[in-house]
Amino acid sequence: MAMEQVENRRDFLMLATGAVGAVGVAGAAWPFIQSWNPSADVLAQATTEVDVSSIAEGQMITVPWQGKPVFVLHRSAEQIKQAQESDGADLPDPAKDNDRVQKPEWLVLLAICTHLGCVPQGVGTGEFGGFLCPCHGSHYDTSGRIRKGPAPNNLEVPHYEFKGDSTLVIGKAAA
Ligand code: FES
Repeated sequence: MAMEQVENRRDFLMLATGAVGAVGVAGAAWPFIQSWNPSADVLAQATTEVDVSSIAEGQMITVPWQGKPVFVLHRSAEQIKQAQESDGADLPDPAKDNDRVQKPEWLVLLAICTHLGCVPQGVGTGEFGGFLCPCHGSHYDTSGRIRKGPAPNNLEVPHYEFKGDSTLVIGKAAA
């Protein structure tokens, strides 16, 4: 195996396991992955609050939650329609779009591919208008459901709730 492949594999496993402290790992992916490594204070924080008022329709942002990336997509009418119309498709991991969102215009997803843990690309990638994981070619739709490729499951929807119209709280506040 070429050295580059070995390094990529190592970076990749780190992301999949959420391992920390791998100082010295080389490769272009490292600075990105490092930014998601949870520090103790991040891990102690159970929730992430996001002001969604400035996310335009069709726009997506990625926010860290407990050291993991979360996609927050303000779906357009077209993206919602695509997702709902695919409810009856032959889905590898069947789920209704309605059961994956609290409000049709907001899609909140753990941005970790269910194959081996890469971070998929942003909305509008892949063959179903959703998210492409380029590691091994998994295609997710605009509901985050797996449609094609080796990933076995849909992108996970984390626990979240809305506080008013503009604040999204990801995670559960500690009791
Ligand atoms: S990790 Fe996403 S397709 Fe393999």
